[in-house]
Amino acid sequence: MPKDGIPAPPPRSPLRVRTSGPVASRRAATPAAPEDARHRILLIGFGHVGRALARRLHDLGHSVGVTPWRVVGIVDSRGAIWDERGVDLAAALETKEATGRLGGGSWRCWGALEAIRQVRPDVVVEVSVTNSERGEPGASHVLAALAAGADVVASNKGPFALRYDEVRVAAERTGREVRFGTTVGGIVPILETLVERLPGAEVEEVRAVLNGTTQFILSEIAEGRGFDEAVVEAQERGFTEPDPSWDLEGHDAALKAAIVHNCLFSPAISAAEVGREGLRPEVVPAVRRARQRGRALVLRGHVRPGSARVALEEVARDSPWAASGATNTFEVRTRRAGTLLLQGRGAGAEETAAGILADLAGLRGSHTPALSPARAAPEWLQGAAWPPVPSEPRAATEERPKGPAAPDVPAPPVSAAEVRAW
Ligand SMILES: NC(=O)c1ccc[n+]([C@@H]2O[C@H](COP(=O)([O-])OP(=O)(O)OC[C@H]3O[C@@H](n4cnc5c(N)ncnc54)[C@H](OP(=O)(O)O)[C@@H]3O)[C@@H](O)[C@H]2O)c1
Repeated sequence: MPKDGIPAPPPRSPLRVRTSGPVASRRAATPAAPEDARHRILLIGFGHVGRALARRLHDLGHSVGVTPWRVVGIVDSRGAIWDERGVDLAAALETKEATGRLGGGSWRCWGALEAIRQVRPDVVVEVSVTNSERGEPGASHVLAALAAGADVVASNKGPFALRYDEVRVAAERTGREVRFGTTVGGIVPILETLVERLPGAEVEEVRAVLNGTTQFILSEIAEGRGFDEAVVEAQERGFTEPDPSWDLEGHDAALKAAIVHNCLFSPAISAAEVGREGLRPEVVPAVRRARQRGRALVLRGHVRPGSARVALEEVARDSPWAASGATNTFEVRTRRAGTLLLQGRGAGAEETAAGILADLAGLRGSHTPALSPARAAPEWLQGAAWPPVPSEPRAATEERPKGPAAPDVPAPPVSAAEVRAW
């Protein structure tokens, strides 16, 4: 039996016929009363992105019922808060920013897995840390959310760069949706473009500057700064991950290259298989020499069927690749529709929160009076990032268990095999 006792998924092509019913059938299953119809969100992670999202939801009228969503719980690394009437987001933001702790709802000593089990949300927004070789803790959060019947919107790259097939199989088995458009490209809609617009064009290769931090550092060095000075500047502007070596050694770019690959080509690869170069202080003379010749150095990813790599490469200084600042650039070469170029701000909590709102709005069954998302491509053209709709309507909100606070037992990671058992 294959890994985790789960049969291997069938080979996937970019053009995949979906087996689900029409979107309208699921819409009809959502409760009609406006208050009850609001989707109950559990937010996992209340750092830069989680707080930026909470601020946007608050500004959009979360507390007065303008949005179709209600944040009923928030989890951070130390515990959770839960309020079925809707967490007081202003209080939660104020408390977290003043004390580093959660407030604005009833505090529980739960980890994220326990919070998912207890709260039984409609949607889990996973914005916790991307920090391990196994994609944890995010992968377990995503698998547990699917097992509990929730849709998932995530900015955490780990589950999709390291456990893609496990998440895809779990999503297909449970019939829930997983959206992760913000894991690559910040506000640049690269994954949506690849998955929703380009399957018919047959993508052959993607080349991309995937990490805005290294692009910023290289452009600062080209302007005359030293290596350490450029790194500190990137940190001060909030561009780097908490551990800057994550960006500098190319790990972040490798994760993103794997995600781009997995949205396009099957079988999925892991970020561990992505060839990777990074930035070291010795890069400084090479950057300066390149500049004298009208060239620039960039850390660029190459994604082709079955492989991906990230390498330091020379490009013309007047080309789009050499855009200064924390810019991401994507060049998508297709067999039937020529080459596309997409470029924009590749990271930032505000940009990521904006992308998460778009992903929330794009969930089937959402209705979004406060936003105007583009409609998705027809179902038969959609790829694996948006798995099939369920045949069974989800359990009504009032049937969900609302138990007392459980002790803070550290929960083990969740595997795909368990998803069927939950
Ligand atoms: N920032 C960006 O521009 C950007 C862009 C795209 C994607 N992302 C991804 O989005 C995610 C969030 O980014 P961020 O900048 O908001 O990170 P961050 O500021 O470091 O926040 C991470 C949050 O996750 C919480 N957390 C850590 N371990 C947890 C656990 N086991 N269970 C529950 N919560 C846990 C932390 O709790 P505490 O508050 O208690 O420490 C914190 O609230 C990351 O995966 C990142 O790679 C970020």
